[in-house]
Amino acid sequence: MGKPRGGEKDRKKERYYQAAKKHGYRSRSAYKLRQIAKKHNLLKGVDKVLELCCSPGGWTQVLRELDPGLRIVAVDLSPMPPIQDVKFILGDITSPDIIGKIEAAIEGTVDLVLSDCSPKVSGTWSLDAVRQIYLAEHTIELALRLLTKNGKVLTKVFQGQGFQEFLKSTRTKFKSVKLVKPEASRSTSAEIYLVAKGPIRKNIG
Ligand SMILES: C[S@@+](CC[C@H](N)C(=O)[O-])C[C@H]1O[C@@H](n2cnc3c(N)ncnc32)[C@H](O)[C@@H]1O
Repeated sequence: MGKPRGGEKDRKKERYYQAAKKHGYRSRSAYKLRQIAKKHNLLKGVDKVLELCCSPGGWTQVLRELDPGLRIVAVDLSPMPPIQDVKFILGDITSPDIIGKIEAAIEGTVDLVLSDCSPKVSGTWSLDAVRQIYLAEHTIELALRLLTKNGKVLTKVFQGQGFQEFLKSTRTKFKSVKLVKPEASRSTSAEIYLVAKGPIRKNIG
């Protein structure tokens, strides 16, 4: 399993790329969230969402569409064109000061953390995979700090070096952990999505 194959021409012919264009979604990734949300009832009981690595905003569009009442805080290194009533933070999810900025925007805890982080592609698959897992680890850390007792996290993770360790470690931090591969995720892609529920906070008595 490796990086997606095919050039720009193949990508443009691809079903979800065309569908996203037609529907006005900013990314074909929007369909991955739609499929996971539907199959796993992701938005059930959810009022507040923190979305990490949100730009250009395909997932955020889906959130707004599925539940116009959701309170959403979204973060990315790159700017995101505005979406109605979404608080956007321009920042690095791995930087120590991001938690303060998120807490100020969120005002309390969140019911769901979403994360579709990918590092800037270096051209070396093994390096990209390690960098992606680093982003997934930061997602889990932020989720443990910000989620409600029965909160959930959905994060992308690359199945490269460090994946099994990441999975093992995440299983000790949540009551339930599942791996999901939505149909819109190419079968040749090493990405998979992890859904974890019920953070276990050992330091809270
Ligand atoms: C695949 S895109 C997300 C697409 C998004 N889910 C959508 O549907 O539009 C990955 C994003 O991760 C962001 N990213 C990568 N490293 C980051 C970091 N350290 N902090 C914040 N965002 C980061 C990139 O800027 C990029 O926008």
